[in-house]
Amino acid sequence: MPARIAIVGPGRVGSAMAQRFVCAGATLLGFVGRDEARTRAAVGAVGCGEVLSWAALVEAEYVVFAVGDNQLADAVRSAAAVGGPRAGLWLHTSGRHGLDVFEAAASLGVQFGSLHPLAPFPASVSIEHVPGGPAVLQGDASSLASLRALCSMLEFEPIVCGEQDRALYHAACALAANGATALFGLAAQVLRRAGGLAEQDAQMMVSSLMTAAVDAAGRHGAGPALSGPVRRGDCATVSAHLERLQSRAPEGVASYRALMSHAAQLAAEEGLPPDVSRRLHMILLGHGGPPDGSGGGD
Ligand SMILES: NC(=O)c1ccc[n+]([C@@H]2O[C@H](COP(=O)([O-])OP(=O)(O)OC[C@H]3O[C@@H](n4cnc5c(N)ncnc54)[C@H](OP(=O)(O)O)[C@@H]3O)[C@@H](O)[C@H]2O)c1
Repeated sequence: MPARIAIVGPGRVGSAMAQRFVCAGATLLGFVGRDEARTRAAVGAVGCGEVLSWAALVEAEYVVFAVGDNQLADAVRSAAAVGGPRAGLWLHTSGRHGLDVFEAAASLGVQFGSLHPLAPFPASVSIEHVPGGPAVLQGDASSLASLRALCSMLEFEPIVCGEQDRALYHAACALAANGATALFGLAAQVLRRAGGLAEQDAQMMVSSLMTAAVDAAGRHGAGPALSGPVRRGDCATVSAHLERLQSRAPEGVASYRALMSHAAQLAAEEGLPPDVSRRLHMILLGHGGPPDGSGGGD
């Protein structure tokens, strides 16, 4: 029999998952939302299911909580407040929370789990453009078996995760995903200030550089993949970058200093001589340029 699934939170992740569940042959009972019109719109976009009440969750085998991180505990309390026998699995999609967020439902007899998709779900992108990618799972042995089955329907690669510092885990995910998006925007903006390029060429250049850099780091590790003036210990070029950013694109200075300081640390671990490394750090901290105006590298 097809899995009966209800989704709490008709937003980006809830709607996208609903579409994948339907494509995989599951029975989508519908959505619980807090705004009737927006919930109805999600039902319309997916093309099946209904606007559900909290009480209707009793019928679901799987209840997916896809509400914002700050709204999750409230949503669990609302779902748990409805009486009646329960079975099945309640899972959430939050990166911020572990399983303790289900505390208000502890006595209901349902199983708990989390399935955090490691993919960005932007509002403007339709589900067929959301990459599968990994999903990080938490739960006991029986919940994990169900979560793996859901991953297969959602076309996610399951990664099982034990106890962890969840806020720190989520901070790392935000750095990798949202940080990369922010960096893309900043690099494209600085490139536009340099002039001489058509807009679409600038976007394509940033995309190509970032894709190649991430691909190399994924294959070889961050240190071995590092290239560029910091890796070469070229203090004069780093000074010139900072001087020009300060005068022409000051919004890029803080990010340049922070990211190149991390790059300098990686370069030191990869064998950049300690004296060159120290000079780079001084320049990046704003404590002076190369003493003789020359670089430490090529
Ligand atoms: N977006 C991503 O890229 C992404 C990726 C991985 C994981 N996640 C996680 O997935 C979760 C959902 O994220 P999202 O981006 O889909 O958020 P979203 O687009 O803001 O959607 C959240 C939905 O939950 C509804 N909602 C809020 N409180 C509710 C309540 N008490 N009862 C019922 N519905 C409620 C909201 O309704 P309104 O219409 O009233 O706002 C909205 O429809 C978050 O925990 C997030 O960390 C997101």
